[in-house]
Amino acid sequence: MKILGIMGSPRIKGNTDLLLDEALKGARSQSAEVEKIIVDKLKIAPCREYYGCLKDGNCVIRDDMDEIYPKLLTADGIIIASPMFFYGLTAQLKALIDRCQALWARKYVLKSLPAAKRKGAFIGVGATRGKQLFDGSRLTIKYFFQAFGVEYVDELLIRGVDKRGEIKQHPTALSDAFELGKRLAQKLSGG
Ligand SMILES: Cc1cc2nc3c(=O)[nH]c(=O)nc-3n(C[C@H](O)[C@H](O)[C@H](O)COP(=O)(O)O)c2cc1C
Repeated sequence: MKILGIMGSPRIKGNTDLLLDEALKGARSQSAEVEKIIVDKLKIAPCREYYGCLKDGNCVIRDDMDEIYPKLLTADGIIIASPMFFYGLTAQLKALIDRCQALWARKYVLKSLPAAKRKGAFIGVGATRGKQLFDGSRLTIKYFFQAFGVEYVDELLIRGVDKRGEIKQHPTALSDAFELGKRLAQKLSGG
């Protein structure tokens, strides 16, 4: 069982990064094979709407997305983690998501994406306590997952955490993240 973690923050060892590491530890505790992608370290151009993908499901832009598509398609589980930037996902992560219009094209236009029972979860963190802080991002992740056959099954949304590493002072967030990863692995193995 493979679980892919996608780290959307530019801040290494920041709150998102630490939360995702715990979630992946939780998944590993259930014998999942885990891999973490740090989106900020990749060269991913934003979607230019060339729509080459409508012809054969492949994006015409050549960059680090070439190695991300197969990872997205072969993972059994995916955990996406992001800080909130202006009530949304980071630009780095949104570029990766938008480039997956190519996978959307495979599924809905070319009907070439095999049906799969894959599952995904979202970890969000923000500094404020706004009630709607995660609403937009949750929808984006949900429909991103749906575009290539991943069911949105779990989430961990942490408010009121700002400075790098401040998440370590939160009473439950890191252990909640561990549990999220563990639950995802258990759901994937039929538990
Ligand atoms: C450009 C930018 C925009 C932000 N916008 C929001 C926001 O809209 N709402 C919020 O609660 N926090 C916002 N924050 C704060 C971050 O979400 C917060 O500091 C978070 O803990 C950072 O996580 P990280 O350490 O994983 O990068 C913003 C921070 C930056 C740098």
